[in-house]
Amino acid sequence: MIGYLLLSICLFQTIEARHGVGKPPPQRKWMTLHGGQPEVIASGGYSGFYPDSCLAAYDLATESSIPGTILYCNLQFSKDSDGFCISSINLQNTTNIDGLDPKGTKTYNINGQDVTGWFGLDYTIDFILRNVTLKQNIFTRQGFFDGAPIVKPLQITEDKFKKPTRLWLNIEYDMFYKKHKINPEAYLLEKFHPLPEFISSPEIGFLRSIKPKIGNAKTNLIFTILAEPAVEPTTKQTYGSLVKDLAMIKSFASGILIPKEYIWPVNNARVLQPSTSLVQDAHREGLSVYASGFANDNFLSYNYSFDPAREYLQFFDNSQFAVDGVLSDFPSTASEAIGCLNPNKNASRTMPTLIISHNGASGDYPGSSDLAYQKAIDDGADIIDCSVQLSKDGMAFCSDRADILKTTTAATMFMDRITKVPEIQERDGIFSFDLTWSEIQSLKPQIESTFENELARNPAHKNSGKFVTLSEFLELAKQKAVAGIYIKIKNAAYLASQKNLDIVGTVSSALSNATLDKEPKQKVHIQSDDSSVLLKFKDNPSYQRVFYIYQPISGAPAQVAQEVKKYADAVFVHRDAVVMSIDNFCQNFTNTIPAFHAVNISVYVGILKDEFENLIFDYLSDPYVELATFNALKVDGFVTDYPATANMFVRSSCATQGSPYVIKPVEPGYLYVAPPPITEPPLLSTADVVDPPLPAIAKNMPTQSAAGSAPTSGPPSAPPPPAAKSSSTSSVTVGAEGFILAAIVALLTVFT
Ligand SMILES: *[C@@H]1O[C@H](CO)[C@@H](O)[C@H](O)[C@H]1NC(C)=O
Ligand SMILES: *[C@@H]1O[C@H](CO)[C@@H](O)[C@H](O)[C@H]1NC(C)=O
Ligand SMILES: *[C@@H]1O[C@H](CO)[C@@H](O)[C@H](O)[C@H]1NC(C)=O
Ligand SMILES: *[C@@H]1O[C@H](CO)[C@@H](O)[C@H](O)[C@H]1NC(C)=O
Ligand SMILES: *[C@@H]1O[C@H](CO)[C@@H](O)[C@H](O)[C@H]1NC(C)=O
Ligand SMILES: *[C@@H]1O[C@H](CO)[C@@H](O)[C@H](O)[C@H]1NC(C)=O
Ligand SMILES: *[C@@H]1O[C@H](CO)[C@@H](O)[C@H](O)[C@H]1NC(C)=O
Repeated sequence: MIGYLLLSICLFQTIEARHGVGKPPPQRKWMTLHGGQPEVIASGGYSGFYPDSCLAAYDLATESSIPGTILYCNLQFSKDSDGFCISSINLQNTTNIDGLDPKGTKTYNINGQDVTGWFGLDYTIDFILRNVTLKQNIFTRQGFFDGAPIVKPLQITEDKFKKPTRLWLNIEYDMFYKKHKINPEAYLLEKFHPLPEFISSPEIGFLRSIKPKIGNAKTNLIFTILAEPAVEPTTKQTYGSLVKDLAMIKSFASGILIPKEYIWPVNNARVLQPSTSLVQDAHREGLSVYASGFANDNFLSYNYSFDPAREYLQFFDNSQFAVDGVLSDFPSTASEAIGCLNPNKNASRTMPTLIISHNGASGDYPGSSDLAYQKAIDDGADIIDCSVQLSKDGMAFCSDRADILKTTTAATMFMDRITKVPEIQERDGIFSFDLTWSEIQSLKPQIESTFENELARNPAHKNSGKFVTLSEFLELAKQKAVAGIYIKIKNAAYLASQKNLDIVGTVSSALSNATLDKEPKQKVHIQSDDSSVLLKFKDNPSYQRVFYIYQPISGAPAQVAQEVKKYADAVFVHRDAVVMSIDNFCQNFTNTIPAFHAVNISVYVGILKDEFENLIFDYLSDPYVELATFNALKVDGFVTDYPATANMFVRSSCATQGSPYVIKPVEPGYLYVAPPPITEPPLLSTADVVDPPLPAIAKNMPTQSAAGSAPTSGPPSAPPPPAAKSSSTSSVTVGAEGFILAAIVALLTVFT
């Protein structure tokens, strides 16, 4: 592990930051105290990725964030009165101290409370720097870089190119340290020439004492506000009551650093409440306001739809106020919210990449429900999708897959219908073609969460919305003038030979009934994993046919790509056919996109989701970094559960050179190189592409057909259905996700 750590550090030293360094920000109006751009303050460096307060974390913060990003160090002291950066006075969870000095636990009374653990003031700075190392203590964050040395604040006053940095020191427990003959104020005045640009403390006594001594220095003294019930040691009042007297705070500080919930409260159902007037009140007193507690891997309010950038925008870009800065574990995400994202849905487009919904806006509402489609349209999807399923009596409706066990309330009513259909999937399910349309209508669609417990999608929308039939879907698309529709067909051979259902005929007649077959205003896309299905739509040149490649591939030989071209104008691939990752880190990009582009086949990639658990570590828990990476790889369409996020990206300047901030696409192996051997997935083969002809529909049809399908009849000696080439959607996405889910179980113990 250490070998790889060193390799990564070397890479950091040789590869320069490439984003808009040195460009002045544009003349954008901000409602900050002085009208300037909000500050990004990197909490312990890039502590969302590296152990908090290690040198690599500070370097990554500088390199990945907007120019002028401030490095925040929470200062603690050694026995010999030297300062070092660490997130907590108690060393037990963030260092290796328990192993180094197993008997070293002490109990100290700190501001009236007994605290047990290991403390810097029991060790010399020499021991701390030589022997104690840092580790990640939030379990959703990888521990690959544990073992990094502790850093003194004077080590981060310059970056690795020797350019001066902007430093923020937070001085905790002044009163406690003084009781133990350690004087933080004397340390600062003696060691720092000049003083750091920002000095903060939760103790009023410290701030009052140092204020007259900073002279003409351009140092901002900031009052760190803690949780409302916590007691400030000098005044013995709670922070909740102190914050009401902003004029008093102004007498010793020029600003406050305050947990974000004081500004935008979130209730227990994680619904964002109206903002308080704190920022305006503080600005009226001439106090700056820096909000703390930002992390991409936190449990965000559902109002942000798991998009961490939206949370920052709520703090800077609402019509009432802007905070003067944000203290974040993920400073690059704060940077993009300030430097390149634009929440205006009408902003003009900077990227042509198509936004294709996945079951509508299925991150916010039950997939394929009327509400999910409406939201996808409102959120700027270019193309809305319907994965067509058939009821037993032939009604075509939209739902992710034939198995409706997890996507509807079927489990509450039809457990007797549970069965195994090996042609479709390995696990048991309740299949739409075993229920009549009126039985299905007695159910509700259900929001599907890949991630559970606190990370599940909004429970308030669990069963919101109604099922949408294929013809309703087509009507909606026409009514709302969506640019395109995307129809997905699966299991055609099985449905024909085993269930007497003609899904191809049903879709064709629904399209022609909706007059989408002739000179449609809407571009019609037909996707299938079965090339014989795509052949059936060959005769209509206005349709775009999309071949669904479900397995990870590393590319396609030219003759196989040519074979695909016989059936399709585009392919849909999963993300792992484009970005190859090991240990959840990107190791290489595959040849998939160039291989299809070489024969003029478009490549759509999915399934994109905002949830940080869905992202490899290189993306820094930020869905925009994934979008920027696929954009750099020239993907033609983003297939996403969250069209709003893709829409904000394609209207941003995040990929525009010269923008105040440009999102750096990931670079394989930049953050972590997996040990060899690295095995790439196979190339696509002709056998993966060619399918047997579709079997005819079996003779004795069930009562037809709510969707008005005109089943084609065929010879009685129809061939048996082909062995399933397809696999279910959910079995496609394993790999990386299994790994992450393990981490989530661990996470729940941290955040709850
Ligand atoms: C250390 O971690 C444990 C378990 O997660 C937690 O209960 C405790 O509060 C943490 N202590 C500190 C000092 O962070
Ligand atoms: C601390 O590190 C030094 C060398 O770097 C070593 O000699 C010493 O044994 C270590 N002390 C402990 C307690 O591990
Ligand atoms: C958050 O969402 C809820 C429900 O969707 C809505 O009622 C509320 O107004 C939103 N909060 C804010 C501050 O916009
Ligand atoms: C965006 O455009 C629509 C329709 O043109 C308009 O109704 C809406 O007010 C605009 N929104 C903004 C934020 O400009
Ligand atoms: C990365 O992928 C490309 C294209 O598939 C391949 O040619 C190259 O050898 C791979 N590089 C590594 C380091 O595996
Ligand atoms: C590529 O395909 C598109 C339609 O998918 C077509 O309009 C275009 O002319 C083709 N370009 C070439 C170079 O064949
Ligand atoms: C045909 O389209 C009309 C609306 O244009 C719709 O009401 C009807 O249900 C459709 N019929 C079928 C069989 O799809």
